[in-house]
Amino acid sequence: MRLHALAGRKILFAVTLLLAVFAYPHSSPAQMETVCLQCHEPQPGKGGAPVKKWRESIHAENGISCHDCHGGDPKDSANAMSPARGFLGVPKESAIPAFCGRCHVGISEDYLKSAHGRALGKGGPSCVTCHDAHATKKVTLDIINEKLCSRCHSYDRAAEIKEAMRQTETLITGIDRSLQEYKGQGVDTDAREKGLFALRNRYHRLFHEVDTAKVKHESSQIQAELQKIQQSLDKVNEQRHRRKIAGLFVIGASLLAALLVHLLRKTV
Ligand code: HEC
Ligand code: HEC
Ligand code: HEC
Ligand code: HEC
Ligand code: HEC
Repeated sequence: MRLHALAGRKILFAVTLLLAVFAYPHSSPAQMETVCLQCHEPQPGKGGAPVKKWRESIHAENGISCHDCHGGDPKDSANAMSPARGFLGVPKESAIPAFCGRCHVGISEDYLKSAHGRALGKGGPSCVTCHDAHATKKVTLDIINEKLCSRCHSYDRAAEIKEAMRQTETLITGIDRSLQEYKGQGVDTDAREKGLFALRNRYHRLFHEVDTAKVKHESSQIQAELQKIQQSLDKVNEQRHRRKIAGLFVIGASLLAALLVHLLRKTV
């Protein structure tokens, strides 16, 4: 019996080790090599530039490669760019929102409804004006900056939207930080993390309608929801504080009791 258990444990250990060794390098999808990358990377100029930019992008980090956007066959060098293998080529400007919208559905809907979307092809910005086609980064409020947003109109309205969003951003970052702290101390934060995740998505999506009044209105609603999460965290903190005091009280009382017993023994 004992031998079996020991052998079982050894096998389990070996399997875990193997999994750790083999699963790790594959867990980075950016390392996936395709014929697109192999042939384009050494090209000078226009053909190679997208690869260098893409390698540093959030898409590369999440395993979204050339063929996921441009189509084509990533395994067959001879037919990689054949339309018969689904190659789409380079989208025209007016087709870019639909091109990106295959994956970012809600955002492209919001964008198309907006003043920016309505001006597409007539001087309005497309997705790649603000996010680039290949050097796409994780978004931050820094995208709203004077250099970009005053290219076509005054910066005033951009600054107003940014201010409305900044307060929400600050709240999100603060709550996220305390959630991570509580989690580290063993508090069950799953439900609150899910709530925060949903609110954060709602907030980041908010921008594309470029409707300043709506951003202000929605931001205040999102802030109210965020405050609820913060209050529930404050309550956890309060309970722990009380438990700590109760704990100290019990220790104090035990010490006192021990002292009394000691004194009683002495006097008897
Ligand atoms: C064997 C080399 C080779 C492979 C493999 C290859 N490409 Fe290309 N690709 C090229 C060359 C050369 C050009 C530029 C010449 C041209 O426009 O015809 C090009 C052009 C492009 C363009 C620009 C087309 C345009 O209309 O301007 C895109 C987008 C592209 N490739 C994407 C891909 C994708 C996605 C894959 C993989 C599914 C891929 N390529 C595989 C050699 C390759
Ligand atoms: C997130 C989607 C996306 C990914 C991933 C992507 N591209 Fe593109 N690519 C685009 C879009 C959109 C354009 C058109 C940009 C524009 O019109 O400004 C484009 C343009 C191009 C062009 C034409 C550039 C020019 O200056 O004419 C080439 C070549 C190209 N991509 C190759 C690649 C290669 C190679 C990869 C993989 C490393 C890749 N792309 C990955 C979306 C993508
Ligand atoms: C005028 C500039 C601009 C245009 C045009 C634009 N975006 Fe954005 N995008 C932003 C800004 C600003 C944010 C939000 C930054 C923040 O919330 O911190 C953002 C956020 C995002 C996010 C992150 C959302 C999330 O849930 O985290 C994605 C994805 C995105 N945009 C994709 C797109 C796509 C796809 C298009 C075209 C249909 C597009 N954007 C058009 C500026 C732009
Ligand atoms: C094949 C699916 C796919 C296509 C097509 C695609 N994306 Fe993405 N994109 C993703 C995934 C997956 C992520 C990473 C997860 C996330 O943040 O949503 C991402 C992330 C992003 C982000 C960062 C979001 C953040 O959380 O900060 C931006 C901005 C973005 N994409 C813009 C674009 C633009 C612009 C295009 C078109 C040129 C495009 N995407 C096309 C799948 C796609
Ligand atoms: C390529 C040109 C271009 C760029 C870049 C651009 N915009 Fe615009 N924007 C427009 C056009 C065109 C309109 C619609 C006509 C108008 O109201 O002037 C517009 C309208 C707006 C509006 C008013 C929307 C409404 O419904 O009244 C806001 C707000 C706005 N942009 C914010 C921004 C922000 C923030 C940025 C930078 C992240 C930005 N824009 C970058 C072209 C641009």
